[in-house]
Amino acid sequence: MPNFDFLAQPSLPRPDVTGDDATAIAAEHYGLTGTVTELGSQQDRNFLIDTGTARYVLKLANPVFSADELHAQNAAMATLARSGVRIPEVMTATDGTDLVAVDVRGVRLLVRLLGYLDGEPLTGVGEPSAEQLRTLGTLAGTVAAGLAALRHLGLARTTQWDARIGGEVVDLLIDHVADPAKRRVVRETVDAALARLAPLRTRLRVQAVHGDVTDDNIVLAAGGDEASGGASDEAGSEAGTTAGSGAGVIDFGDVAYGWLVGELAATVASALHHVPAAPLAVLDVVEAFAAVSPLDDTDIAALWPLVVLRGAVLVVSGEQQVALDGDNRYADENRAHEWLAFDVARRIDAAEFEAVLRWRLENAAADAASPVDAASPVDGAPTTGSPTPGSPITGSPIVGLRTAEHHLADLSVTSHALDAGRWLDPAAEAGVLAAICREHGHAVTRYAEHRLTRASIDRRAASATRALSVTLDAPGGVDVTAPFAGELAIVDGSWRLRCDDVDLWIDGLSRPLSTARVAQGETIGAAVTLTVQLSRVRGRRPPAFVTPSIPRSVWEQVSPDPSALFGADLAAPESDAALALSRRDDTFAVVQEHYFAEPPLIERGWRHHLVDTAGQTYIDMVNNVTAVGHAHPRLVSAVRDQWALLNTNSRFHYEELARFTERLAGLAPAPLDTVFLVNSGSEAVDLALRLAQTHTGRRTILAVTEAYHGWTVGADGVSSSIGDNPRALETRPDWVKLVASPNTYRGRHRGTASAPPYLADLDEDLAALDASGQAVAGFIAEPVFGNAGGVMLPDGYLRGAYQRIRDRGGVCIADEVQVGYGRLGHYFWGSAQQGVVPDIITVAKAMGNGHPLGAVITTKAIADSFAAEGSFFSSAGGSPVSATVGLTVLDIMRDEELQRNAAEVGDHLAARLRDLGRRHALIGAVHGLGLYLGVELVRDRETLAPATEEAAAVCDRMLAEGCVVQPTGDHKNVLKIKPPLCITRESADRFVEALDLVLATL
Ligand SMILES: Cc1ncc(COP(=O)(O)O)c(C=O)c1O
Repeated sequence: MPNFDFLAQPSLPRPDVTGDDATAIAAEHYGLTGTVTELGSQQDRNFLIDTGTARYVLKLANPVFSADELHAQNAAMATLARSGVRIPEVMTATDGTDLVAVDVRGVRLLVRLLGYLDGEPLTGVGEPSAEQLRTLGTLAGTVAAGLAALRHLGLARTTQWDARIGGEVVDLLIDHVADPAKRRVVRETVDAALARLAPLRTRLRVQAVHGDVTDDNIVLAAGGDEASGGASDEAGSEAGTTAGSGAGVIDFGDVAYGWLVGELAATVASALHHVPAAPLAVLDVVEAFAAVSPLDDTDIAALWPLVVLRGAVLVVSGEQQVALDGDNRYADENRAHEWLAFDVARRIDAAEFEAVLRWRLENAAADAASPVDAASPVDGAPTTGSPTPGSPITGSPIVGLRTAEHHLADLSVTSHALDAGRWLDPAAEAGVLAAICREHGHAVTRYAEHRLTRASIDRRAASATRALSVTLDAPGGVDVTAPFAGELAIVDGSWRLRCDDVDLWIDGLSRPLSTARVAQGETIGAAVTLTVQLSRVRGRRPPAFVTPSIPRSVWEQVSPDPSALFGADLAAPESDAALALSRRDDTFAVVQEHYFAEPPLIERGWRHHLVDTAGQTYIDMVNNVTAVGHAHPRLVSAVRDQWALLNTNSRFHYEELARFTERLAGLAPAPLDTVFLVNSGSEAVDLALRLAQTHTGRRTILAVTEAYHGWTVGADGVSSSIGDNPRALETRPDWVKLVASPNTYRGRHRGTASAPPYLADLDEDLAALDASGQAVAGFIAEPVFGNAGGVMLPDGYLRGAYQRIRDRGGVCIADEVQVGYGRLGHYFWGSAQQGVVPDIITVAKAMGNGHPLGAVITTKAIADSFAAEGSFFSSAGGSPVSATVGLTVLDIMRDEELQRNAAEVGDHLAARLRDLGRRHALIGAVHGLGLYLGVELVRDRETLAPATEEAAAVCDRMLAEGCVVQPTGDHKNVLKIKPPLCITRESADRFVEALDLVLATL
């Protein structure tokens, strides 16, 4: 029988063997009786036999595996037993052989019995210690070294774990990944890994490998203490007993010829899901492996692509196994771990990992004990002389410019040179440098700065923003001198000056000296644009720009700060989001919550994008306040100009006020023609309530449950959202009468045609009020349930409600703070969607684009009744600056046709989200209109059980995908989608793509 070839036979359901079968086989062939428990396996059947005095594993191999292959596994175990790794003992059957054939219901199966290796698998350890990770690496390295000389006929087989055919395995199995979003990510990630691997393949060493030295298959020493893997003298000798010291390796089912570094990649991939937040911890695994089984240059370059590939093979194989063998709980349970490991792997840039790994291995001998993440920044104090190993970088000036003459370019996220979206211009960096050069003759960039110019929008992955190289621009030209003595050579088109422990990479050298040994201070050429990067990685230049996934402290070791060579401090200041948060919490009332447990530090906005201090962008799906987009240049300049002229209060006479109130009145439906200007939605609602009360001479206000109208005493009184205030329903003041929330999705009555029963309920409430002699002053509601996540009111509800209120002499207030002002796309006012004209409209948020601005628009008659309360004055309401802001926002909305954009992009987005709902059971409904949408997450579409925790998890994962979205509603289970109205179709699509993936992998 030929050896197994996965590519010829890619589907391997486990043989059909029951516990009773195993019991019979153990008794008949091994003379063993005891309790029998099935152990997990992807494609074989394994049973634990406990005789009471000893424990064994009975292994029934999948019938596709030949006797040669099983003998090869036994040979591998025997070889390793001799090399000192604790491994299971191969037991002989009563007939004296170590492999017996049995017949299970007509299927011939080959059986072996192994001693059970006691100890805790690493899988059970949540977050392994560095020592445990090193044990894992040492074991894998020892196994690889131990098997290096093994030759056997049964090793020439092709399993799906053979890294050499990883690409083919993925091609073959990827269709088992049912979810298209997951499939796409696997495809793209694998393609990138294979491309990186392609030039290395022929140089990778092939030998016998275990193929599966993973967290599942190493057992830590019994008693919990990890011990020196592979170093135990007794290894193998106590198999079959419960005693044992030292870590051991089990499961030799994948033993075959393969790439040596593939052995390590499998081990590293298995560690990743243990350390998702600090994946560089796997460097401990690699270093320990390499100490036993040294890695060559090609291995190092191939490792991360192979880890990624292994992760992908695990994902596709897991999906295949579940599709094939639905009741394989082992395969099913592993899927979450497998996806997590793949996800962690794909987020690490292979070139970055390679550079850090090279540095780590080169320095391992010198300083094995210091973990990279504890590394401290390099002291850049300039001195003279050559660098010595591990010491701060020193050197004489590389260019003949005096320290004080260095003019630093600010390319950071907060650089005003990059305002107004200039950072998106590919020529932006050159432009900033050129401007400084025009004034000062030359300019220098900063080391370790996160350059905004390297940020990208609608990103799928982290942007490589951190500069490890430094550029000096000097249009007049400068002489370049060797900052230390060394060998000068051209490598990959760049100049490299090498001294004892550091390489200086130089680009832009014109008229260079030829390759030579140069002395410190010797002129080596001239430059107009000189780029330099220091490297403590021998031979290979680290990436010039890196993502934030690896900490600065690591890069300061790998690619140190070249400040000393310029005689100036070029190190960019580093912002610390955690520190900033704790400062905020120290003095800012914590009830004024922040989004996300670990929020990024956002210091810039542009259109519908936010940018954190690491230059990572986020699509802003929550800022309905910033209707025309962040940092709109027209608004910026209008505000600047008005501030420069005048800002005072509305008791003074200036034209901007009338211009603005005319515009607002013009936008309101007749007969609303009179405007009050305040500073917020809460104030607008408060004032509207007082207008209703003074106009009617009554106190009682009707408000719907589940709503939020603001924080002031009045606005809070009519707010009953338990999502915002869990005790809201019991604590409303006596002048507020709550009526049922006409929530068409999860309310008392459901569907768009549920207005009649809701109005019947309202009739009952009103009748009760009438009977108690409480006359109604007014009724307040959002025309689309913003707080519930954009739930549309039932058709005709407001018309019926307004009629009933007006019949009793009450006043109808539409709170348009969230949903009005063009956001619905198809309507400027939400009340228009319901076909009603309110008596009072409250508006805020969007009208100021973030500037504090609110308004009440009503009839002259209602406004005039307020005179009974004396005059009305709000110090900053309607100030010249506020009026300018309000007018400019309206101008921008008109000129950029943002309401039309809200309709178009909103409809597109809603359709795509509804499409997602057809594939993801968690989506119960997509609410809303235009760019006020809500994705309601439920655990069950029948019971509508709210998926609150899931919604929180989705929001956290969406942040990692570069999207800011938050939950709303009484159950905080509705993703509120209300981006700036300028959002593009591309960003909407990117958001849907990200949500698709997040839901697929939740
Ligand atoms: C519908 C509604 N009305 C009023 C307010 C209060 O507005 P502000 O926060 O500007 O005081 C809000 C705020 O979220 C709101 O959503």
